[in-house]
Amino acid sequence: MIYLDNAATSFPKPSETVEHLTNFVANVGGNPGRSGHTLSLEAARIIFEARERLTSFIGMKDSERLIFTQNGTESLNAALLGLLKPGDHVVTTSMEHNSVMRPLEFLRQGRGITYTAVSCSSEGFVDPEHIARAVTPKTKAVVINHGSNVTGAVQPLSGIKKSIGAVCLIVDACQTIGSTAVDMEGLGVDILCFSCHKSLFALQGVGALYVREGIDLVPLKFGGTGSRSESIEHPMFLPDRYECGTPNTPGIASLLGGLTFIEKEGLSKIEARKQRLRTRLVEGLRQVPGVHVYGHGGRGTGSYLAIVSFNIEGMLPSSAGYELNQREMFVRIGLHCSPAAHQTVGTFPGGALRASPGYFTEETDIDAFVEAVREIAGT
Ligand code: ALA
Repeated sequence: MIYLDNAATSFPKPSETVEHLTNFVANVGGNPGRSGHTLSLEAARIIFEARERLTSFIGMKDSERLIFTQNGTESLNAALLGLLKPGDHVVTTSMEHNSVMRPLEFLRQGRGITYTAVSCSSEGFVDPEHIARAVTPKTKAVVINHGSNVTGAVQPLSGIKKSIGAVCLIVDACQTIGSTAVDMEGLGVDILCFSCHKSLFALQGVGALYVREGIDLVPLKFGGTGSRSESIEHPMFLPDRYECGTPNTPGIASLLGGLTFIEKEGLSKIEARKQRLRTRLVEGLRQVPGVHVYGHGGRGTGSYLAIVSFNIEGMLPSSAGYELNQREMFVRIGLHCSPAAHQTVGTFPGGALRASPGYFTEETDIDAFVEAVREIAGT
């Protein structure tokens, strides 16, 4: 079996993820912040530790401003729906996932918010100057993905922050976090949104956002927090203002395992390994006649994550994906929930095949995959 769908979710997970999860399920199991007994307190401690470590992982200090969610989509909804008011304008790009485009379209149709999607190059890069030119006096936020889930293009975020000044920079870091350094301060990010089940190696069902001091979002959910229970009003203090209901404590425990693994291996080693796999995959695929790889150009382009979309001439991605699946080689086909990005790349509406190696992918897996593509392409 060769799993090349790490951009959808990482698999396998490191043993640390499994150990932290198993420990929680087998030995802890309590509901955090809801009771005063030992198991509830231990569950709360696990969440506290995860919040602290994740905050420092993104280069920030105030862990109360780190909000746990279910996934990247919920984080982006919390940011966009919580920040924007009627009359506001938003700048985004033509490379965004539906987790940005659908909330923006909902806000446009129902709440009097307008947005401009700036065109990116066919490799997926945006020019910071084009973003700056789209900003108007009504622009409240720029929302942009850090790394594309279609071409892997990594956007020049610090250049963007410089060009937009005080406008709020909301970043979707679902694909970059855990694959490359995401330093909120250095990149000038105001609200960072991400999922934790990809390169942070947590279970599915855990996401987060970090909201920089001075930014207040209207919460989207209200209810039980285990705090101020005597009041009918939802607490104003963080993180309870944005978190309610029983959290995904097993998932958050698994995140602690993922962070432990990343710290042990070292992010730069993880990044270097994935870059080697990316280069091998791109070079291999480019040698197969009839295969077209999107992005991942040579000189003159920016950097890319190990996310490689491609097509085989004369073949539907679904047919090629079926053939790969028959060989137990797993990739994601279609539009990757990012129709706008595929329009930018020129692969709409058919989409593409997407191969995304992970830290546990072997070089021999890449070679076997390229050989299978060659066979399927009939060359
Ligand atoms: N957004 C994830 C992907 O690109 C699920 O596959």
